[in-house]
This record gives sequence, C-alpha cells and structure tokens, in this order.
Amino acid sequence: MEVLVIGGGGREHAICYSLKKNKDISKIYCIPGNGGISDIAECVPEIKATDLDAILQFVKSHPDISMTVVAPDDPLALGLVDLLTENGFRAFGPTKDAARIEASKVFSKWLMKKYNIPTAEYEVFDDAKKAKEYLKTAEYPIVIKADGLALGKGVVICKDKKEAIAAVNEIMLDHKFGKSGNQIVVEEFLTGYEVSVLAFCDGKTILPMETSQDHKRALDGDKGLNTGGMGAFSPSQRFCEIQMQKAYDEIFLPTMNALNSEGITFKGVIYFGLMVSDKGVKVLEYNARFGDPETQAVLPRLENDLYELFNLTIDQKLNQVKLKWKDKQSICVVLASGGYPESYEKGYEISFGDIDEDCIVFHAGTVKKDGKYYTNGGRVLGVTCMGKTLAEAREKAYRNVEKISFKDMHFRSDIGVK
Ligand code: AMP
Ligand code: GLY
Repeated sequence: MEVLVIGGGGREHAICYSLKKNKDISKIYCIPGNGGISDIAECVPEIKATDLDAILQFVKSHPDISMTVVAPDDPLALGLVDLLTENGFRAFGPTKDAARIEASKVFSKWLMKKYNIPTAEYEVFDDAKKAKEYLKTAEYPIVIKADGLALGKGVVICKDKKEAIAAVNEIMLDHKFGKSGNQIVVEEFLTGYEVSVLAFCDGKTILPMETSQDHKRALDGDKGLNTGGMGAFSPSQRFCEIQMQKAYDEIFLPTMNALNSEGITFKGVIYFGLMVSDKGVKVLEYNARFGDPETQAVLPRLENDLYELFNLTIDQKLNQVKLKWKDKQSICVVLASGGYPESYEKGYEISFGDIDEDCIVFHAGTVKKDGKYYTNGGRVLGVTCMGKTLAEAREKAYRNVEKISFKDMHFRSDIGVK
C-alpha cells in the first residue's frame, strides 16, 4: 500500500520518517517534498501543497494510495481533506470547518469563551478606528493578533500605545497579511512559560502526546524576531503529570466537546499552545495540525505505529489505543539560512560530515540535485538526537550540528537550556 503526505518541511520529513517504519507501506509520495524527503519518498515538486485540484487528480491517478496525510495549515484551511473525502478517498486531517480553530483566531477565542476554556481576556475589532480608540486606555503590554493565517507572524506583542497603533495600522490599513487582517484580536498579555501539547483527536477521544517546548525567537536568550521555530525538545522539564491531567480535564477534553457541541467533528491533530503560570494554564493558540519543529522532537520518541494511529483517528477508534513513548529526552536544533526570518539567500551546497548513526537530520528547506543537497528555504535542517537526560541529548545534537555546514548557516546555541 502507498501513502501520500502533503507538505515539504521538517515536520513532513519527520512524518515520512515515522511512516517508513511500517513495513506494509511500500511507497510514500510527498507533495511537494524536499531534498531529504526524496531519499525516502517520491517527491512531486511540480505540485503545490495548496493546489487542491492537482492533488485530487494525483490521488485519482495513483489507485494504490490508501491515505493522504495533510500536514500544513493552508491546504487544511482550504478544505483539501473535505475534497478528498467527498471523492471517496481517505485523508488524515481536519475538515475546513474544523481547521478554523487555527485559521480564525476570532473563531477560536469565541469558542474558548463560550465553553469556559481558560484563555487570555480579549476584544475583537473589524474597524481600525475603533481598535485605536480602545488602545488609548488599554493596559500594556498588550497582544495584537491578525484573525487569519499569517505564516506564524500575525502576532505582535506591544509594550506601549505607540507600538499597538503601529501594529493596527500595519495589519488593518496596510494589509500586511492581506485578508487575514480584516479582523484583529486584541488580548491580555500573559506571563509564564510555554508548553506545546499535540493531541490526536477523532471527535470521540482525545489522546495527548507527550509535551514539548518550542523556541520561537531567532537568537539565543529568546532575542530577535519571531520565527517558525528554531528548535524544540520533548518532554518539557517543567510540566508535570498533575498539570497534564488538569489540562486534559479543563482544556483538551472541553475543546473536543466544544467543537462537537458546535456540530464540528475534529479528526486529526490539535496543537495546544499553552502558557503556564502560578495562576494556572491558559490556551495561547490552537493549531489544527502537528507543530513544526515540535514534531521533529516528539515523533521520534513515539513507539506506536503512526500509520495505525492515523487510521484509528479517521475511523474514530482512538479509544482502542494507548500511546507509548521512549523513556528518553529528545531535542531538535534547527539550522537556518543567515538572515532568516527576514531575507536570505538560497542555493548553497550543504556538507554533512560523518553524522552519528542515532542522530536524525530532518530536512526542511533543501533540494537535492545530482546527489548533492542545497539550501532552499529559511529553515534548512533540524538535527534531532535523544539521550537519557536533556543534557546528554543536547550534547549529542550540538556535536552533530558542528559536522554540518553551509554558507551563512545560523542556529541557536541554547536550545533546551531554559
Ligand atoms: P500564537 O501564534 O498565538 O501562538 O502567538 C505566537 C507567540 O506569541 C506565542 O507562542 C507566545 O510566545 C506569544 N503570545 C501569543 N499570545 C500571547 C499572550 N496573550 N500573552 C503573551 N504572549 C503571547
Ligand atoms: N511551532 C509552532 C507551530 O508549528 O505553529
């Protein structure tokens, strides 16, 4: 049997890598894929992850494909899972309606408020003038979020009124994120530490995976601009079993139930971005998919068969399974192009050296030509290692990072330190 994976980043490489362990899968296709994925799957770079019709045609013309896994936010929000399902094909991921928990912050905040799921206090504005009026007397710092998808860049933390007005102007009047900024959420600034929890959800059962922690800023010490994520580790060192159980009772299960009450069956992975403080745990954001780079730290620790978990999710049988984890600490260090998340060059050759056998190098922005790999994006690689302790995993990961080089390579040297 064959599987098609949609996407072409480090997350998709980690998904393909885990699927590959299932011996019944004879072939994996990946649309569009990347240099590293092309070593374990047949990539289709001509088709974009957002070209729904071309993807449907591809599935129709490859009858051995038994499932399509839709990993990125855009095709989910566009309704790729709906389209494939309507045409009689199996697809893993939420429908367009369910993916709104990520694609519309106005919707997700409304849902949390209606069902008493703990989150920051907020207001919604569709008019820049009214937003600015509100910001005159608001408390600072304050957080301004574009409603729609914005490549992870639609959130601005404003320390004073001047920054807040500038953010409103950029998002609502200069249309920096296009239609995604037609509405904004203005919300209370929360303090504490962040934890990510990914959970399989089939609409009847929600199964949280072990925790992870992302590093969003570009530079050491959480300085610099927000990025898609510069590294992750799993599990979190701070979020304990008791907090996890409480989060399950107050956040994870109520979220699935809330969606059901609205007539939405969520089948796929829900990503809970949580802020943990002395006052409790609150939801910062939902994503309707696996996180990147959290997946590259979490999936290598998972002992269950990923393809089976995808099937159980689609068939609403997650109650039949328990997740099993390697009792190890993992870490993923992202290697990026110099300049990322702003402008950067592509096309530099990557040299790998002698990478340890138990170290996995996930590719994100790479392309393979004549047997050589070249940089092809902002985040280029993710180096994942495991150890008995976080310190051991870190030491291994950075030892292997030192063996890899390309022009202007940039990485954070403090992944897993905080
Ligand atoms: P989001 O895309 O909503 O997760 O926001 C991106 C990042 O902005 C989060 O991971 C947090 O670091 C930060 N953030 C978002 N909302 C808040 C908030 N209400 N208070 C403090 N930080 C926030
Ligand atoms: N690592 C954050 C995300 O995937 O959105």
